[in-house]
Amino acid sequence: MPLNHLTIIGAGTMGRGIAETAAVRGMQTCVIEINAAQRDAAGAFIRASVEKAIKRGKVAASSADEVLGRIRFESDLATAASAEFVIEAVSENESIKIGVLKELDRLCAPHVILATNTSSISITRLAAATTRPNLVIGMHFFNPVPVMAPVEIVRGLKTTEDTVVATRSLAEQLGKQAFVVSDSPGFVVNRVMMPLINEAVFALQEGVADAATIDSLTKLGLNHPMGPLQLADLVGLDVCLSILRVLHAELGDPKFRPCPLLVKMVDAGQLGRKSGKGFYTY
Ligand code: CAA
Repeated sequence: MPLNHLTIIGAGTMGRGIAETAAVRGMQTCVIEINAAQRDAAGAFIRASVEKAIKRGKVAASSADEVLGRIRFESDLATAASAEFVIEAVSENESIKIGVLKELDRLCAPHVILATNTSSISITRLAAATTRPNLVIGMHFFNPVPVMAPVEIVRGLKTTEDTVVATRSLAEQLGKQAFVVSDSPGFVVNRVMMPLINEAVFALQEGVADAATIDSLTKLGLNHPMGPLQLADLVGLDVCLSILRVLHAELGDPKFRPCPLLVKMVDAGQLGRKSGKGFYTY
């Protein structure tokens, strides 16, 4: 049976993208975000995105107001007490995620599924922080969420088949193609993508070519929609670094060692599009 209501925790890049996707598909959507500036920014971002999508004929709604009318922004996590299905999309930081999941576990009805949009943290470990590991699952969306087709559905060690089936059905309700994978560092996409991005940064650091040349060559040579450095700027250099660190630490393979230039850029606060400067200036 389709879900009527979706609760999303966090209104950052991924949370707002998931909220837009759900509301466009007619779901009543509650977004819980403690930061007021982030809530306002998410509302404005979704409005602009939906307006563009309507203009291009991608979304059938009569106006952005119609879509935004289905999204309720809240500031207090306690609002999740009435949730039917929760997608956690807070910062990619294990202790923050565990804190939020523990609180959701305490607040939500015992049958409610807690999905996490983590891009690399162990689902099994996050699930173990709750009293309902059978109902905890990874639901990994791709940026920009309204445009990107797939969702990785990640089964933790104790995730049950019923939880997988319900999560797959939600992904399909959101118009996504669902792929079920096992819990392993970086799952599939980031495990394949991060070495490409990292190697492009090494090539830049070693002076093989400048950023624009590395991107143009890789984009055209591999027929990708954008080059790896542009993609890193889109994803966020801090996110790339944190995923590489998880891959390096948990798989123990030196091929995942983050490029020192990437580390330096993150240390300097050059995080890509979201900070106005990464490999390019925005
Ligand atoms: N709703 C619905 N459709 C929308 C939309 C919205 N809000 N906004 C844009 N679209 C549609 C557009 O209408 C357009 O459709 P057509 O091609 O049919 O015209 C399409 O989406 C592309 O939009 P744009 O023309 O605005 O943008 P573009 O053509 O320059 O493409 C891009 C931009 C989609 C980002 C493309 O460059 C791309 O696919 N890049 C790669 C992105 C990628 O790899 N993302 C994954 C990152 S990894 C990740 O996210 C996971 C992680 O854990 C790090």
